[in-house]
Amino acid sequence: MSAPSMMLFHSPASPFVRKVMVLLHETGQSERVAVHSINLSPVTPDADLNQGNPAGKIPALRLDDGTVLHDSRVICEYLDLQHVGNPLIPREGPARWRRLTLASLADAIMDAAVLTRYETFLRPTDKQWDSWIEAQQDKIRRGLSNLEQEHIAELASVFDIAAIGVACALGYLDLRFPDSGWREQQPKLADWYAQVSQRPSMQATDPSR
Ligand code: BEZ
Repeated sequence: MSAPSMMLFHSPASPFVRKVMVLLHETGQSERVAVHSINLSPVTPDADLNQGNPAGKIPALRLDDGTVLHDSRVICEYLDLQHVGNPLIPREGPARWRRLTLASLADAIMDAAVLTRYETFLRPTDKQWDSWIEAQQDKIRRGLSNLEQEHIAELASVFDIAAIGVACALGYLDLRFPDSGWREQQPKLADWYAQVSQRPSMQATDPSR
């Protein structure tokens, strides 16, 4: 086994990082990437991460020639072009736009959840903005409801970029908002998630383990 040729800036709690890690497992590429864990928040930048990545985005992937790729969408596209198995992002046709749009919905749920976490955990209580938090929660509720009502069969059809994104979004809700009660409102999504959570790629990247 040769030494890893790439380095991934990693924070185990980030659902965006987890997406990349799951894709690496699913495509058999984990050994190609060394993981560099950092403790990051919007108010604690990391000088090493910021090199070649001025906005300090995470995940970021440093290639062996020093090029830095960010963010998770770009990194997943890149890695999906680097293996010989079935693509996890359809290369063309309506399926590409359909699956990427579902993946975008998953990213939006993650964004809203991470922003809520920052607002409620990092920001001093007297500066928190309740209406803003409620708007993020609404976004999450609408997204989950849409997945439950319209996309379960599509999600269950293949564990690709869309399914990976939704699984990581739900995993993050469980990690940071364990009392959110999303399963009661979305029982079909809960059943689907219970199944995909057993995949080795999901088990190996579970931030609560
Ligand atoms: C978290 O601790 O919830 C977190 C850390 C890094 C990125 C996103 C979320």
